[in-house]
Amino acid sequence: MEQGKPGAAYHGNAERAARRVTTRTVHDMKVRGEKISMITAYDYTFAALFDQAGVDILLVGDSVSNVVQGNETTIPVTLDEMIYHARIVARGASEHALVLCDMPFMSYQANAEEGFRNAGRIMKETGAGGVKIEGGKRVAPLVKMMSEAGIPVMGHLGLTPQSIHQFGTYQTRGTTEDEANSILHDAKVLEEAGAFALVLEKVPAALAERVTKSLSIATIGIGAGPHCDGQVLVMHDMLGLSEEFNPRFVRRYAHLAEEVRKAARSYKTDIQSGSFPSEKESY
Ligand code: KIV
Repeated sequence: MEQGKPGAAYHGNAERAARRVTTRTVHDMKVRGEKISMITAYDYTFAALFDQAGVDILLVGDSVSNVVQGNETTIPVTLDEMIYHARIVARGASEHALVLCDMPFMSYQANAEEGFRNAGRIMKETGAGGVKIEGGKRVAPLVKMMSEAGIPVMGHLGLTPQSIHQFGTYQTRGTTEDEANSILHDAKVLEEAGAFALVLEKVPAALAERVTKSLSIATIGIGAGPHCDGQVLVMHDMLGLSEEFNPRFVRRYAHLAEEVRKAARSYKTDIQSGSFPSEKESY
């Protein structure tokens, strides 16, 4: 890039934009059979690390309610809180990843117009590249409005944690023929409404395979077996920060909870013994 030339900054931005994952990249990856990696992120530091590692999509999940805020469900997190987290994640993902922000409970359930306006707030105030919403045909009119207005939408079917009080359990969904057919039907309706991808959570692998094969948009699985076009895990689970949560679909890629406790114990010991700070660490 030539310094000082009019438009130089613009061209720099264009080069960066060309490297970034977009909904088109996600579609092309599905066509090429290249698996899509997605992970949740809630802050600047982890978003920057995942971005540097080349993860394709960072989801600012409403699971922030559980793993960051300490709530039992995803119900309490507010739209303003999601906007705050999405903004700092987007700042961290400065090079590569597509950042998506979950629309929290009751930011889109009342009616499509309210959902549309709230999605607009997320896009204008955060720097995210799209939103995710839970539900099938009931949310299709909103998905249509958003995608026609240029707001990329990822759907979410199967286990939908915002409906936990309706279902009462976090058990696998789509295990009966009726439920499986209804998930397949909802997936097609979301695709027709303009969703660019969808999450399939905790459904049998065979159903996820059927859905994946019947759609031209990408499926991202969590507890949905190996046949989806991509996979997502909550960062606290895959990094071993949440030790209590042990469903079979979680693979631990690190054991950070124990590392953090070890580091904190050593820090405390060094303070108590007077070995920290040393002369070299002082001015
Ligand atoms: O909120 C979240 O983290 C999610 C993922 C589990 C897909 O929706």
